[in-house]
Formats: sequence, C-alpha cells, structure tokens
Amino acid sequence: MTDTIDHTLEELRRFPPSQHFSEQAVATEAEYHEAAADRLEFWAHRARELLEWETPFTRVLDWSTPPVARWFDDGTLNVSVNCLDRHVAAGNGDRIALHFEGEPGDSRSYSYAELTTAVKRAANALSSLGVTAGDRVAIYLPLIPEAVIAMLAVARIGAIHSVVFGGFSAESLASRIDDAEASLVITADGGYRKGRVFPLKPTVDEAIARTRGSVRQVLVVQRGDNDIDWQEGRDIWWHEALADASPNHTPQAFAAEHPLFILYTSGTTGRPKGILHTSGGYLTQAAFTHRSVFDLHPQTDVYWCTADIGWITGHTYVVYGPLANGATQVIYEGTPDTPHPGRWWEIIEKYGVTILYTAPTAIRTFMKLGTEIPGRFDLRSLRLLGSVGEPINPEAWVWYRDVIGGGTTPVVDTWWQTETGAIMISALPGITTLKPGSAQVPIPGINIDILTDGGAPVTSEDGGLLVVTDPWPSMLRGIWGDSERFQETYWDKFGDKYFAGDGARRDADGDIWLLGRVDDIMNVSGHRLSTAEIESSLVAHPWTAEAAVIGVSDAITGQAVIAYCVIKQSHESDHDPAEFERVLRDHVAKEIGAIARPKRVYIVGELPKTRSGKIMRRLLRDVAEGRPIGDTTTLADPAVMKLIEQMSRAR
Ligand code: WTA
Repeated sequence: MTDTIDHTLEELRRFPPSQHFSEQAVATEAEYHEAAADRLEFWAHRARELLEWETPFTRVLDWSTPPVARWFDDGTLNVSVNCLDRHVAAGNGDRIALHFEGEPGDSRSYSYAELTTAVKRAANALSSLGVTAGDRVAIYLPLIPEAVIAMLAVARIGAIHSVVFGGFSAESLASRIDDAEASLVITADGGYRKGRVFPLKPTVDEAIARTRGSVRQVLVVQRGDNDIDWQEGRDIWWHEALADASPNHTPQAFAAEHPLFILYTSGTTGRPKGILHTSGGYLTQAAFTHRSVFDLHPQTDVYWCTADIGWITGHTYVVYGPLANGATQVIYEGTPDTPHPGRWWEIIEKYGVTILYTAPTAIRTFMKLGTEIPGRFDLRSLRLLGSVGEPINPEAWVWYRDVIGGGTTPVVDTWWQTETGAIMISALPGITTLKPGSAQVPIPGINIDILTDGGAPVTSEDGGLLVVTDPWPSMLRGIWGDSERFQETYWDKFGDKYFAGDGARRDADGDIWLLGRVDDIMNVSGHRLSTAEIESSLVAHPWTAEAAVIGVSDAITGQAVIAYCVIKQSHESDHDPAEFERVLRDHVAKEIGAIARPKRVYIVGELPKTRSGKIMRRLLRDVAEGRPIGDTTTLADPAVMKLIEQMSRAR
C-alpha cells in the first residue's frame, strides 16, 4: 500500500475541461452549491425532476433510527414505468433503448415502445405463474435483451429480483436461491462465450436439486439451442409464456421503500451477503449520477457500459440509470476477444458509441495488446470514458484517454460499491479538472470523510478509512434476512457513519485517492472475492487439512488469488504438488465459479501462525509478492516461513 501512495503522490498530470465540453455539459457547478446549502432539498429536487411519481412524496428522509434509512417514504411509483412507459408517453417510443450485439454476430434493436411491450408481456406472464409483489425471482441469464426485460418485468409487478452472475457455479446459485427463498428462476438454455455455447439450464437443474425446495417454476429463454433436460410441470419456455401473455398491462404503484432487488456480494465471512435495495431513492441516485457523471444527452448519445447484469454496475448503469434517463445503449453478450481482439472497438464503430464505461482490468489488458488493434477502428464518436471497479493506475488512465479517447475525452474514475447502489465519488465532466489515478470528489449531495481507526478525522495526507457520513438515497437498506450482520459489518465501527471497508487518502487539493480494501475482500478484475469463502471451499476438499488465501498484486487483474494448502497426512503421498494444485484450483472453480479459481495453489507443510493460532497472511503476501519477509518474531515456529519461501522459489 505504501508503494501506491508514493507512486500516486508523484502524479502531476492535470486535464482541465475543454471549453467545448464545458459549454454543453449537463452537470453544473450550481448543483454543488445547491447540495451544500440544503442536501435533503437537493435530493428531493432530483427525485421530482428525474422521476415520475404516482403519489408525490412529502417526506424526504427519515433517519430517526439509524442504520435504517427511509427516503421519500410516503411517495409511490412504479420503477418499470419510470424506465419505459413514460418515455413512450412523452413521444419517444421510437427511440432505440437497446442495441443488442450477440457474440456470434447476431444483433437486435429494441425501441422504447418495443421494450415496453415486451416487459408488459413478461409481467403478465409472471403474474399468471403466480408471482406477486414481494416474491423473489432468481435471474441466471447471459447478457441478452431478455435479461433486461426480465428484471424490469419483475420490478413492474413489485416482485424482487436476485440476479446471479452466469459464471457462478450450481452451488453458489443454490445457496443464493435458498437464502432468498426464490420461487421462480429465469434462465436460458445457454449463452455464447468465447465462441462456444456456455450451458446455463443444466447448472440451474443441478442447483435446484441442492436447494431446500422453494423453486416452483423455471422460465427458460431459448438462446444457445444446446440440448437440455426438461422437467414437465416445472420448466416453461420464455417465448411460449410471452406469446400467450397480453401486451397490455396496467401497472400498480409501490411505496418508495418497496424492495426492488437483492444482489449477493462477497463479505469477510464465507457466506455471501444479500444486499437489499429499494425503489425511489435508488432510482433517483441511479438516474442523477448516470446523467451527470456521464454527461448524458439522451437524444444524441449512444452509451455502452460493458458490465454484466450479474454485478451492481449492470443493475445501475445498464438497466436502471440509462433506462430511467431514456438513453440509447449497447449491450454485448460475449468476451472482448471473440472472434478477434478488436471486437469492442468494432462495436463502438458500428453503433457510433459516444460514452464508454468499463473496468481498469479491461483497459490494462488492451494496453498490453498495444495500440495497433484499436487503431484499426474509427473511435472518433467517443466523447467520454468512465472507469469502475478498482483503482485505475495513472498509466492506464492516460492510455485510455490517449488511445481510446483520441487524447481529448474526459475520463471519469467512479468509486462506489454494491452497497452504495450508485456512484458516490467521481469527477463531473466539464467541471472538474481531472487527475489521473484519483477518483477525486464526492458527487453533489454525498458526504464522505476519511477517519483513523479510532474514528477521528484524518487531517494530513496520510491514509485512513473511507466513510460516508450521511445517509444517501441509493444506500443499501439491509442484508436480506440478517439485520445483525448489516449492523455489524457497516455500522458497529463508526456509529451512524457508514464504514465502506476501503482505505483512502485526501491530497492537498482535497481529491480522494482509493487505496484498496482494508478487510479480507480481494478485488480480482474488478470482482469482489472473499478470502474466507475460498478458504472454506478449499478445506471442504477431502485432501485439504488447512488453507490460507491471499490477494496479491497483479499487473493486469489488479489482484490475483493465491492459496497455500496443507494436505492431510493420509493423502500426502497420493500425488505430486502439481497434481494437488491442479485439482484444488479446479475444485474452487467448480464450487464457487471460474472467477474464484486461484492463480496458484502452493502445497506447504505448515502455515505461518501466531502462538494463538492466527494465520499470518501478511507474511504469505510478502513471499508471494517477492518482498523480504517481515517480522516473524510472533510466529509460533519462525522456521515455517523459511520453508515456504524456499518452496515458492523452487516452483
Ligand atoms: C472497489 C463495484 C478504486 C472498492 C461498483 C469497493 C474501486 C469495491 C473503485 C466495490 C474505484 C470500486 N477506485 N476502487 N473507482 N470502484 N472499487 O461492490 O474496493 O463490486 O469497495 O462494486 O470495488 O465493489 P463492488
């Protein structure tokens, strides 16, 4: 972490907004003043200006019993109407909502009118299957238009979606279905990835067999045309259900605090947490940030966020923010390198994408491939670039602006989390002078501070812990079914200030630099993984006696997962270390999902532990990152580290 601080302190490049950009910018300096003068009135104003309410609210915020926040709570609205019907009613039914690009090269576009009709049919289909307000629906789909339609249809009838990333295993899906007691699963036969069909329905079948039995029906989108098993009475084709459903649907309004979705994310213990978001406040901040941070001009912009709907970025900046704002956007099913490494740039050229929002890992991967590939495509339509998910190093930031943005586009580095629901810290294009590597300033209406472990504000440029000092509209409302864990994880540390779990520092200009997680959560390619979850998966294997997992720096993925395992004596002589490693890596991928597969599994005789038995991960990190090993005096057996070091060098 010290390396990062020293490095970023030297970053002196500054990019003031161009006059041309500032003149047409959506965000205004006045919004900062408005928010500073009266924060609650600022958000109330945004909620009225950006959304259509069935019953207007009269109360802005109830924070009388922290950490339970209630925003706009006597107002009612329908989230799907806000994303669809009202744009049609305003005369924009012909505007394209989605340009879908399938990995094999098929494409489909939906106007707002067409998307609205599809969602109405899907809402009717769900209702006729008995789904009602408050029911949980699990969604396990590729990034195809049906995923967006399914989410909005669930929202339209007041049910709660729980989207599970299509790369998660049957076991991960099953535990999420059980935790939320989902009554319906929406999936596809398969989707396209890396030039092949990636089966999904078989994983759903396997998952349901492991659950406690809440699922009554499975809706199956036909996409991959792969062979699948069919359970009569439970499985229903999506296209048949929609064809039978009426295209008319009168929406009902729901309370602003009505739950909208649950999204599971890794925590510091083994079990993922179901982060709960509600309707009015969430949609307000989603729409506001999408408009102001991305400088959205809905009549002319073509926006593309490359996130999958399985992550919060896909929820807020593929589905709810852009559609609430009536944007035209691109969604792409596949991987960036299929069938050729210029696929993204080809898509930007094809649709004339003007705003691109992606992750540092992707940018660093492209950097490694060089400038020649993007150079073959016309990227001049791009006028704004965004980054999310992990700190972006200044080199990648500048490369992104120069090579992809033609040396002129603003780059906004946006800090936020599954829990915060929407962007919290970011430059505003056209206003902020940009500083590569820094997420910069809280957006208007958000109050951030950096505290010492004891809760005192950090006044110097030394790092501290990032907190949000006041409730915000899109904040999580809890952890599904576990209010104690909600309290413990985020509020026990600093009372009514939200503890984000990130380290940060503020420079002399007041700009914020994120320094990574301060807890046992790793960030691999912008995806959150818990060390505890991977450790418990490793020790669940019959060979493993003990396991320690750490995240180490990686030039492309930010961090990489490294595991140290002790094999049970009874199995020690069964295989050589390479075979143990291969099997254990695959085991984690199968149990959790391919994104959790450790980069390396080192087989060791013992783990470094203190006398009280605590594993000293810090020392393992020293070895893995090639540093001299730190203080080992607290180890029960200091010789252990020598052996681990020799073994790591040897392989
Ligand atoms: C990290 C993703 C630095 C951070 C939206 C946070 C970032 C975690 C940034 C949340 C950024 C996200 N700069 N770090 N711009 N954006 N992070 O829940 O550690 O998947 O706590 O939400 O990603 O990850 P999550």
